[in-house]
Parts: sequence; structure tokens; C-alpha cells
Amino acid sequence: MADRIRKSAVKHLLAIESSCDETAVAIVRGEPGRATEVLASEVASQIELHREHGGVVPELASRNHSLCLRQLVEQALERAGLGISEIDAFAATTGPGLASSLLVGSTAAKAMACAAGKPFLGINHLEGHLLSPFIGRTEVPPHLSLIISGGHTLLLEVKGPGGYRKLGGTRDDAAGEAYDKVGKMLGLPYPGGPEIEKAAVGGNPAAFDFPRPMLHDAHLDFSFSGLKTAVLYTLQREGDYIRIADVAASFQKAVIDILVGKTLRAARQHGLRVIALSGGVSLNRALRRAFEERCAEAGYRLEIATPELCTDNAAMIAFAGLLRHLQGEITPLDQDIQPNLPLATDL
Ligand code: KG4
Ligand code: ZN
Repeated sequence: MADRIRKSAVKHLLAIESSCDETAVAIVRGEPGRATEVLASEVASQIELHREHGGVVPELASRNHSLCLRQLVEQALERAGLGISEIDAFAATTGPGLASSLLVGSTAAKAMACAAGKPFLGINHLEGHLLSPFIGRTEVPPHLSLIISGGHTLLLEVKGPGGYRKLGGTRDDAAGEAYDKVGKMLGLPYPGGPEIEKAAVGGNPAAFDFPRPMLHDAHLDFSFSGLKTAVLYTLQREGDYIRIADVAASFQKAVIDILVGKTLRAARQHGLRVIALSGGVSLNRALRRAFEERCAEAGYRLEIATPELCTDNAAMIAFAGLLRHLQGEITPLDQDIQPNLPLATDL
């Protein structure tokens, strides 16, 4: 009997992520008080498609989402060893992101929920990133969260799932966006982040003294556009003989100093002992090392999402969806996508 009750508490959730240029489908299994298990996490990257344009072309992205989605759903179900009738709830990213891309994934998830007579959950992409370091854990502890992606740079105080308070954010470019723009200036392929990381190996991080905007200001906001412009002026001034490796290493060092400096200050100011990093930029090894060293010195616990969960994926959306589903939440099917959706601040 107890076994039957426990079995019925186990839920399977299928989620779709299509907010930008990755089409992703994941299936998770979980129950209250237990670590969530990722049964499938399929990602179809569109990087090659957008590379020749030097950035994401929204119409190409949405058309490609609709082409990939059905196969990815079938692939995910097969990998999880489940039939669609065994899925208890469906989720999709409903914002923030590109409107035409969000529509494809959320409409597909709503259609599946509707056909199966199961609940739908609309998930904030940033909540997915924020929770990603804790997938596979039994709890999300109170912590300081730094989300560093192509579209966002956000510092938040997290009380637990659903309890978020914004402490700071970028006033102009996101950290990943700065990487991508500087990558373009250096003639590196899109996306610039991983390319700059590679180019910086063997470069001298002290070769150029780039600015660290707002690092010493009392507030917890960021600014990266001045740094980007400083790189541009340096390239114009030095001409063709400049060492790309030195520019990449010096730029990267400036970004890391800003992110580490502000985050540790926020943790100190708000009395938080756990720091979590998420989003594409948190893949950067030099950044991870810098955070590891500084957190060890200061006695903070550092949590970083596993590499495959740093960049856009649907496992993080499924995890966020499952936590909400287990709380009995449901999103009405007539709720629209929200391309500029901020992260809830109901701490
Ligand atoms: O989280 P993500 O996949 O998508 C968004 O939600 O934006 O992040 C993509 C961003 C891009 O700007 C990319 O250049 C950056 O993450 N990125 C990196 C690295 N890998 C990806 N930035 C620095 N170093 C990396 N290794
Ligand atoms: Zn993202």
C-alpha cells in the first residue's frame, strides 16, 4: 500500500526550451523531497546556421525550432523509455526571449498538454538557469545567484524555489554579449565566448589595462559596454600587429575581475554563504577557477551547473517546471508568451 502511494507521487514532466537559438526537449522524474532525475535532455544546436550571419537571426531560429521539435520530442521519449501517456505535465519557456522562438516551443507544449489532458506550466528561462546548479539535489538552499548568459547578467538573492530578489544587473550589455561583440571585433567566429576563452590561452592578461566599469561603485549593477569600447579603441590604435591572444586574455581578465569582485561583495553585504553560477558564461574555465579560488579563501560554498547545463537546455526548464508542478501550480493555456518577462521578485 505504502509503495502504491509512493509510486503515485512520482511525476514525469516533459519540457521544451526554444527561447533563442537552441531547440531543446527534456524529461525529468521527481517526487517531493527526492532528488530530481534527468531521464533525457536533447539539444539541437543552431550555432552553425547562425554563424554565417555573425549572430542569431530570429526568423531563421523560429523556423528551425518548428522543423526540429517533433523529432526531439520523440528522441527524448525514447531515451527516457516512456510513452507520451506516461507524462504527467508539460512545460515550456514562455519568456524572456525572442517572441517568434518562444511561440514555437510554448505552443507545442500547450498542444501536447491539451491533447493529453495534462497540466501546462510556463517557465521563466532565467529561473531555469538559476536553478540549474541544483538539479539532482534534494534542496535549493538560500544562496546568492549570479546568472551570466548571452542576454542577462543578474545577481539575485534566492531564498528557495520561487523566492527571488534582484540585487543587481547589467545596465547595458550582458557579460556573454560583451564576449560575443569583442569576439566579432577580433574576427573570431560566433559565439565569441568559447572562442575568446581559447584565444586567451597563452595570452598575457596584463598586456592591456582595460577598465573594470562600476567595480568599485557601492551598488551591485554591472556595465560592460565601456570595456567593449576600450577594446575597440585599442584595436584601432594598435593596428594589425596586435596579439589577439593578449587582447583576449586582458579582456577576459577584466570581465572576471568585475564578476568575481561584485559577486563576493554582494555575498558579504547580504550575509549569504553559498554562491551559485549559471548561464553560458559560467562554462568559462578561467572564470570558474577565479571563483573557486576566491570562494575558498573567503569560506563560501560555490555551486556551478555541470557544463551541459550551463548553456541553454530543457533539463533546467523541466526541473523548474517539476518543482512548480509538485506545488500544484498550473499555467492557464490562454496565457501569452512574455518576451520581456522579468524574474519574479517575491522573496
Ligand atoms: O546561457 P546561454 O547558452 O544562452 C542565453 O541564455 O543567452 O549563453 C550563451 C552565452 C553566449 O554569449 C556565449 O558566448 C557565452 O554564453 N559563452 C561563453 C562560453 N561559452 C559560452 N562565454 C565565455 N566563455 C565560454 N567558455
Ligand atoms: Zn539562457
